[in-house]
Amino acid sequence: MDRFVITGPTALAGRVRASGAKNAALPALAAALLTDQPLTLHRAPRVRDLRTMRRLLDHLGIGSEESRADTDAGGDAVLHLRRTGQSSPHDAPYDLVKTMRAGVLVLGPLLARHGYARVSLPGGCAIGVRPIDQHLKGLAALGADVRLAHGYVETRAERLRGARFRFDLPTVTGTENLLLAASLARGTTVLENCAREPEVADLARLLNAMGARISGAGGEAIVVEGVDELGGATHTIIPDRIEGGTYLIGAAMTGGDVLLEDASAADLAPLLDKLAVIGAEVAVSPAGIRVRAGTAGGPLRAGDMDTAPHPGFPTDLQAQYMALMTCAEGISTIRETVFENRFQHAPELARMGADVRVDGGSARVHGPTPLTGAAVMATDLRASACLVLAGVAAQGETVVARIYHLDRGYEGMELKLQGLGARVARVPESEAR
Ligand code: EPU
Repeated sequence: MDRFVITGPTALAGRVRASGAKNAALPALAAALLTDQPLTLHRAPRVRDLRTMRRLLDHLGIGSEESRADTDAGGDAVLHLRRTGQSSPHDAPYDLVKTMRAGVLVLGPLLARHGYARVSLPGGCAIGVRPIDQHLKGLAALGADVRLAHGYVETRAERLRGARFRFDLPTVTGTENLLLAASLARGTTVLENCAREPEVADLARLLNAMGARISGAGGEAIVVEGVDELGGATHTIIPDRIEGGTYLIGAAMTGGDVLLEDASAADLAPLLDKLAVIGAEVAVSPAGIRVRAGTAGGPLRAGDMDTAPHPGFPTDLQAQYMALMTCAEGISTIRETVFENRFQHAPELARMGADVRVDGGSARVHGPTPLTGAAVMATDLRASACLVLAGVAAQGETVVARIYHLDRGYEGMELKLQGLGARVARVPESEAR
C-alpha cells in the first residue's frame, strides 16, 4: 500500500488539466454490454476503478485495450472495447463488486441484452449504507422479475417493456442503470425524479451515438424510446469536475493561483459560486477556470455549505471543502445530506490542527487554524483528497497512508500536484518508514 509524503506549505500555482470523469467513464464502459459493435472512448481516466470495471467486462465477454491519443493534449488514454466471447457469463461476482460499487451498472445492460443478469449486492461502504432498491424497483417497473438470494440480485425478463417510473429520490447510478436498460426495451419509458448530474447526460449522449433515442437527460424527466439494437460509437468522456474542483479548492486554501484547463464551468458552478462567496477570485475564460486567493481580496471567509444532488454542491467535494474551511476566517457549518456517514476525514483533519466538531449530519469548522503535518489515514476516495490538500497547506511533513483509495479516482495526483509546485512523493509501502 503506497503512501504520500507531503512537505508543506506550498501555494499551488500553475496550470492543470482534469482527466476524463471517472463517474462518466464507468457507465460508458457498461454501455459496451449493449452492443456487438466496437466502442471507442476518448479521455478515459487512468484510475483504478476503471481497471476494475475492465476486469468485470472482460469476465462478461467484452475485451478492452488502451491506446494513447496523439492528438490530445496530455496524451489521454483511449479505450477500445469489443465483444470477445458470445457465451460469456451474465453475472457480476462479489469479488469485483465489493471493491467497486459501480459494478452494479452492468445489471441494466445485461438484463436488457440477454434477458438475465445476476449481480452481487454491493453492501455498505465507508460513506454509508447505499442501498440499490431504486435500481431494482425501476427494473421491475420495466417488467423484470427481481429476486434477492445468497447476497445476489437475480433478474429475468424476456424483453423489457417501456413504462413510467418515478424514483423516490434522485440516484445517479440508479438513473444510469435504467437508461442503459430502457434503451433496448420495447416501447417508451418515462423516468421521473432523475439524477441531473452531468455524468448522466454524458451517458445519454453516448447511448444516443450508439443509436438510442433518449431525450431530457440532465433534467428531472427523461424519455427513452426503446430500439431493437444498438451499434458501436466513438465518444469523448467529459472532464472530471470533482478532480478539477479538488485542484481549485487546493488553489484557494493555499493562497495559490491555478488555471484549470479544458473544464466545464457550468458543471462546476456550485463550487465556483461558493469559492467566490468566501472571497477567492474566480475567473472563467476560454483558457479555463482560474482560481486565486490570498491576493487583494484579503483572507478567505467562512461559508456554510449543504451538499445536495446536482445542481447542488456535490457531496464528492464536501471533504475537500472542509479542509478549505479550516483556512477561512469564522465558523462554517457543513451539512452532508446525500450520505449518512461521510465525515470520516474530520478526526484526521483535527489531528492536523483543525477545529472541527461533528454532530450527526453536520460539522462545524472554526477557522482559521494553522495546520501542521501529521501521519493520517484515508478512509475513502474523497477523504483522501481532503487530507492530501491539507498536507499541501500544512507546515511540515504529512504522511497520508492508504493511497489506494485515492488511486481509485485521481489519475497521477502526485504528478499533477508536483506540476503545481507541491512537494509530494509517492512512497511504496516497502520503503515507508
Ligand atoms: N439511494 C437509495 N437507493 C438507491 C440508490 C441510492 O436509497 O437505490 C440513496 C443513497 O444511499 C444515497 C443517495 O440515494 O443516500 C444518492 O446516492 P446515488 O445513488 O446517487 O449514489 P451512487 O449512484 O451510488 C454516485 C457516484 C458517487 C457520488 C454519488 C452522489 C458513481 C459511480 N458514483 O454514486 O461517487 O458520491 O453518485 O453524487 O457515479 C465518488 O466518486 O467518490 C463517489 C462516491
